[in-house]
Amino acid sequence: MELDSMTKGKLSNKEMPDIRTIYKAFDFATSFALKSTMTMGIPDILARSKEPMTADNIVEKLPCKNPAAAAGYLDRIMDILIVPGFYSKTPVSNADGKSHKAAYGLTPVSRMLVKDDVQFTLLPIALLHVHRVFTDSFQHLHKSVLEDRAPMEVALGKPFYEYLAENQDVRSTFQEALSCHSNYWIKIIAQEYDGLEHTKTLVDVGGCEGESLKELVAVHPHIHGINFDMPVVIQNAPQIPGVDHVGGDYFASVPAGDTIFLKMVLHNNGDEECLKILKNCYQALPERGGKVIIVESVYDHDSKEDEAQFVKYLDVMMLSVFLNGRERSFDAYKALLTSCGFGDCKLIKLSGGVTLIEAYKY
Ligand SMILES: C[S@@+](CC[C@H](N)C(=O)[O-])C[C@H]1O[C@@H](n2cnc3c(N)ncnc32)[C@H](O)[C@@H]1O
Repeated sequence: MELDSMTKGKLSNKEMPDIRTIYKAFDFATSFALKSTMTMGIPDILARSKEPMTADNIVEKLPCKNPAAAAGYLDRIMDILIVPGFYSKTPVSNADGKSHKAAYGLTPVSRMLVKDDVQFTLLPIALLHVHRVFTDSFQHLHKSVLEDRAPMEVALGKPFYEYLAENQDVRSTFQEALSCHSNYWIKIIAQEYDGLEHTKTLVDVGGCEGESLKELVAVHPHIHGINFDMPVVIQNAPQIPGVDHVGGDYFASVPAGDTIFLKMVLHNNGDEECLKILKNCYQALPERGGKVIIVESVYDHDSKEDEAQFVKYLDVMMLSVFLNGRERSFDAYKALLTSCGFGDCKLIKLSGGVTLIEAYKY
């Protein structure tokens, strides 16, 4: 087939696309500049200061081998993080009263990266996204298409969970990151979601060690929680008032309850596996009025472009790790739910980009 005129090089210089536009797709310098500030604990250093800090002030708090040069390097790293909104920058006068230096402060985004902020820190999940295991896996993304293999498995030489089982440090990093993400979501759900008022027995399918139920039962003490996960996970689960732990396999069956909670479980699975899990959930609900609540990152026709783009970003992460695991649109979840017999599917959007789907058994 003929190349188009642009590809054949028949455009004038003025008609040529700006070379800088392609660099936007490869902006890993911003990701790693942010990573380097997280690694040096700069969000915590800024959080402890009453005033914005110059690079010289920050460097005084760091074990730099060459402090004289370090502030200059740090200014350059901080500078590309200003426009995307990770840090603020204000001018402060030098001793001569004529020239200025930059002083840096936290923004609402970097405030979430303060390690010591126990309620809101998202530092572990932010560090996970730039962890070597993930960045190495992305070098093989094309092999999903060409070789039908999970890029992560190509990079590690084995499936991700097998690798985690053998590597305690990466496993802890991964678990800490997932639980900080999960805590953030569940706190918002516990405070804002009003669909649990009539629930008597809430079954958390794939509930890990019961962290979600702990939070939900504390806010809704009338609920009896059943935390369901693989026996190997359940055997380490701590006792939680109002919650019973049950071990099993969600592909075989799930415990009975009038409400079933599925948080960040379906996105690890392909459509066929999701159908098996959802059919078992359907079976476990009472004949009338039972409902399933799916908590995942979801977009629909009303979502803004950047909200849908965020879900697509997560989807490529899932592709790189699990190949068949995927993020889905509301329409895709609705199709899975209705083919298992569920009806009246509703997408609920809460603060902080938290989304959940309710669907009923009639
Ligand atoms: C991504 S984690 C989600 C954990 C939790 N729901 C949350 O939001 O943090 C998926 C969970 O599913 C559990 N799981 C995986 N396969 C399972 C199976 N066949 N039966 C029961 N649980 C399973 C895992 O042990 C893990 O706890």
